[in-house]
Amino acid sequence: MHSFEELSGLFATRFKQSHFPEQPATLYEPNNYFLQLGGKRVRPVLCVMGSELFGDINPEAWEVATAIELFHNFTLIHDDIMDKAPLRRGMQTVHTKYNESTAILAGDVMLVTAYDYINRIGTEHLPAVLGLFNRTAREVCEGQQMDMDFENRSEVTLEAYLHMIELKTSVLIAAALKMGAILSGAGERNLELIYSFGLKLGLAFQVQDDYLDAFGDPSKFGKQVGGDILANKKTFLLIHALEACNEQQRLELDRWLAGNEPGKVEGVLKLFRECGVDAWALELKNKFLDEAWKHLDDIAVQSQRKEPLTKLAQFLVQRDY
Ligand code: IPE
Ligand code: IPE
Ligand code: MG
Ligand code: MG
Ligand code: MG
Repeated sequence: MHSFEELSGLFATRFKQSHFPEQPATLYEPNNYFLQLGGKRVRPVLCVMGSELFGDINPEAWEVATAIELFHNFTLIHDDIMDKAPLRRGMQTVHTKYNESTAILAGDVMLVTAYDYINRIGTEHLPAVLGLFNRTAREVCEGQQMDMDFENRSEVTLEAYLHMIELKTSVLIAAALKMGAILSGAGERNLELIYSFGLKLGLAFQVQDDYLDAFGDPSKFGKQVGGDILANKKTFLLIHALEACNEQQRLELDRWLAGNEPGKVEGVLKLFRECGVDAWALELKNKFLDEAWKHLDDIAVQSQRKEPLTKLAQFLVQRDY
């Protein structure tokens, strides 16, 4: 069995090679720029771990892992346009360093390149993996649209938020695990369980992402802290604050939400703290993590085989970047 560190090292070595032609450099250089910024490489490692959970790593898992990481990076390039984000992985986002049209096209061609790697599957597993890949991609689009729709809505329930983050974030994490498992010939029940594990882990992961967006240390986080507050994102932080606040705090919160006055991030953060969103974040993460463990426990393989996944899941919900 391999750890997260080992697998991400092995993946990085393979992923380093160029995935794009040289010309036109105005299209491909932005993609190379973005990919060399790195990232945690969580999803490709989950794919390989999904394979190793059920046997030796199927070499095709590395190809699918590459497709997944390219797909993920494509979503980030486009997400940064949608979220008007200046920073990613501690560096300029593609649309700010180059321009918006280039960022759209660079993302598009990255998505297409992801399919080239899926197409390298030379076994009977291709239809299942491709079908799951497509379903996931569609769901991520749905989640991203809901995320933007919510920016302009004043009332968003916790349930609606959870549905949205399941689509924009969890399904890719779940699919990465399941694709690896498919490639190792896991049975139907185990496939369902690993997917359910991934969905719950993904929810805890996005809760941590939203938490860090508000409370992260700017020197470690790599993204603009407070970006979600500026965009009026309906994260669980805001949803909880709106529920827990008193009348006075509600007025203050509504005032900040109505525009982008100077001091908004600090003002909203103060209210978040007063309304106890810290404790709530921990509660939510633990709830989803507990649910995730139940699914992982039920997977019918020796428990030592689950150790790398357990460690990775713990890291993901405690990370500070
Ligand atoms: C960021 O994902 C997008 C979300 C779904 C929150 P990561 O936090 O995995 O981003 P990188 O790849 O490590 O930069
Ligand atoms: C992004 O959610 C999810 C996808 C990219 C599909 P966020 O907008 O919260 O991700 P970050 O914080 O920019 O990484
Ligand atoms: Mg974003
Ligand atoms: Mg976003
Ligand atoms: Mg975020």
